[in-house]
Amino acid sequence: MTSLIPDLIPKHVAIIMDGNGRWASQRGLPRFEGHRRGVEALRRTIRAAEELGIRYLTVYSFSSENWKRPAAEVSDLMGLLRRFIRNDLAELHARNIRIRVIGVKEGLAPDIVALLDESEHLTQSNTGLTFVVAFNYGARREITDAARLIAEAVKAGQLDPQAIDEKLFASYLNTDGIPDPELVIRTSGEQRLSNFLLWQASYSEFVFTAGHWPDFGRESLVEALLHYQSRDRRFGGLSSAIGGVR
Ligand code: IPE
Ligand code: IPE
Ligand code: MG
Repeated sequence: MTSLIPDLIPKHVAIIMDGNGRWASQRGLPRFEGHRRGVEALRRTIRAAEELGIRYLTVYSFSSENWKRPAAEVSDLMGLLRRFIRNDLAELHARNIRIRVIGVKEGLAPDIVALLDESEHLTQSNTGLTFVVAFNYGARREITDAARLIAEAVKAGQLDPQAIDEKLFASYLNTDGIPDPELVIRTSGEQRLSNFLLWQASYSEFVFTAGHWPDFGRESLVEALLHYQSRDRRFGGLSSAIGGVR
């Protein structure tokens, strides 16, 4: 068995946690059960990320498009987030984990917004793993909001259009201060981004796994990292094997 190369552990891994519904249907269970078991997979994965020395873990928990689902399922997903924060926040804080939330707060129930804000405030000085929760997140909205804020700053005379470069633009995104993910994992066999981190994943490596999210854990994460470590990241240059810089 190949083992992980410590120097090549990505700093930031982002995960599209997909397949909860299919996991449940295959077992004749309600979709809710898949989502519930998905939260357990998330707990295992956070733990594994800490142990493996990953610095940032981003998870796609609820997309701006997920409002299209039946109201009962949306309400189940909101309920699970509430429960997750209420049950786990103190422990995550005790483990020195910093929580960041990306996405739009408008449209969310006030108590959910309060819980998300509390998670960020309580853990803001923590120095361990940064756990980034993409909730009510959509990358096109994130990019459009950044463009609007930049336009407003220019209009107010606070920003010279000549100063707008990639670095400045990125600082207007929700992920300001967070390095781009080197690796994006999507479970359950779908091979698409579904409006996740369009800007930040420009040069990410992608690993698509066949298993459904509720079955994910340390072993699947290590497997994805091994795939990642076998990739030749060229960034438009030449392979390190033939004289390019890595
Ligand atoms: C991922 O599982 C959870 C969310 C998108 C919130 P799904 O609910 O998308 O599961 P499938 O894709 O229907 O199996
Ligand atoms: C993407 O999964 C969103 C999350 C994992 C939160 P979906 O299941 O909503 O994506 P599509 O509809 O298959 O593209
Ligand atoms: Mg899905």
